[in-house]
Order: sequence, then C-alpha cells, then structure tokens
Amino acid sequence: MTRIIYVNGAWLPEPDAKVSVFDRGFLMADGIYEVTCVLDGKLIDYDGHARRLQRSARELGITVPLDEAGLLAVHREIVARNGVDQGMIYLQLTRGVADRDFAYPPADTPPTLVLFTQSRNVLENRAADEGIAVALLPDLRWGRRDIKTIQLLYPSMAKMEAKARGADDAWLVEDGHVTEGSAATAHIVTADGVLVTRDLSHALLPGITRASVLELAGQHGISVEERAFTPEEALSAREAFITSATNFVVPVVRIDDAKIGDGKPGTMTRDLRRYYIETRRAAAI
Ligand code: PDD
Repeated sequence: MTRIIYVNGAWLPEPDAKVSVFDRGFLMADGIYEVTCVLDGKLIDYDGHARRLQRSARELGITVPLDEAGLLAVHREIVARNGVDQGMIYLQLTRGVADRDFAYPPADTPPTLVLFTQSRNVLENRAADEGIAVALLPDLRWGRRDIKTIQLLYPSMAKMEAKARGADDAWLVEDGHVTEGSAATAHIVTADGVLVTRDLSHALLPGITRASVLELAGQHGISVEERAFTPEEALSAREAFITSATNFVVPVVRIDDAKIGDGKPGTMTRDLRRYYIETRRAAAI
C-alpha cells in the first residue's frame, strides 16, 4: 500500500512526497525530529513528544509551523489516512529551503515539516521476548545530544559497528561513563535492586519513555538513582534494559562478552515493560 505522507500542509502519495535539494535538512542536517509510537491506532505518550519537539525547536531557533491543536490533528490524521494500528509516526522539521550558506537564512524562511508512518508490531517481537545484546563503543557525537536533531550519522555508524561485533546495538561511552544507546536510553539495575539511569544534561536525550518509566518505578516502590554509571557497573549489573518510543522497555541480556544476570530478561525489566504498556495504552489519545 502506498503511504500518504504529510509535506508542509499537503497529503501526498509516497512517490509525490518530495522536498527541495536546497532544504537545509538535506544540506546541513539543520533540523529536528520526533518519533511517536502508535498502538491501537492511538498516540502513546504524545504530550511528552510534542513538548520535546517544541523544546528542540526553541533551542535551535526553528519555528514549529502548527499550533498545539494543529500538530495533534496532523498526527491523528496521518494515522487514520494510513490505517496504522501499531507502529510509529516520524516527524521531521527543518529550517527550510535556502541557498547553501553556513549562516541561517532570514527568520521568516518557512520551515519544512514532514510526517510519515511506519507500521510494525511494537507489542510482540524477539527483542522484547528474549532481550538484546549491546556493544560498548565510544560516544563520538556532538555536545548537544539533548536536542533531537537529524544528524544521525554517528549513531548509524555505531549501530553498524555493534552489528559487526555480533551485537544488536551500541551503548555509547564517554569519559568513563555510559551516555545512552544509539537510539534509546540505557538503564541498569544494581545487585541491590536499584534502578540506575543517567541524569539529564547536554550529554543525552531526555527520553520521553525514560520519564514515564521513572514515574512508574516510583509508583511501584522501586528505588531510582539518576546518575551516570560506568561500563564496569553495567557489566556486573543484575539487569539492564533500554527504553525508547518504539521499543517501550527492552531487556539487555549481554553487554560485550558479559551475560547480564543469568542472560535472560530480568524481572524488574519485564514488570516495567508491562506497567508501561498497560498504563500508556490506557492513556493513549
Ligand atoms: N530514538 N536517546 C536517543 C539518542 C534516541 O534517539 C532516543 C529515541 C532515545 C529515547 O527517547 P524516547 O523515549 O523519547 O523515544 C534516547 C528514536 C525512537 C529514534 O530515533 O527512532
């Protein structure tokens, strides 16, 4: 089925959905994005993603061309037009079209807003059932990872290197501490049952799923420490897992050559995945 893509206010069949070669997203990676999960044809954790989009836009001085209600309406319409039951919505917003120049174009240059959908089973998959393996790799990304920009070359390189090493994904390490996964937040559970996740800073993306999972952990009496952790702590953790919009909570069962716990998804990880799906599914809009 040909998807229907949103491009600057128009709904276009996939082959007609195009942007200029002068788009600053194409030339300079001058843009931001969001990924929102769809379950039962509804948006999961939408408010958090909409808020983070506004924040990323503000940090870079890019204008979001729709108001709150308009943005939500476009998200809902793209799900309906593409008949998505499970999957995700990708939104990309760039500074717009201008001749190549390192300086930004005038502030009234219209931004480029594109949305498309991908259908996939987000509830049941091998990663969720059996867990994934991650490889530790240096974090060579830029210094403002709190902004969700479309510059994703290094995360792609890291993912490829992780696969070459026989793992599913990478956990990135900087100054002796894990920052995050290539496209997900990294968490560990210590031998004492404390959930440890890195505190927010410019070093990592403020994950929307992370925030929900920390809230759920609190509600279920799980102790949480928001602090950086070392690769050594991760290698000897009782459990490890990642969170992201499309993964929810996915167990990490191997880091480099070390089995985590008994090499099977941990109990707390499984519980948090269940709590997340139950509560966010019930609250989806
Ligand atoms: N990635 N850290 C990074 C670097 C990410 O790219 C992502 C999300 C996360 C998790 O954030 P959230 O819980 O808000 O999805 C953390 C998306 C899913 C992607 O690029 O496809």
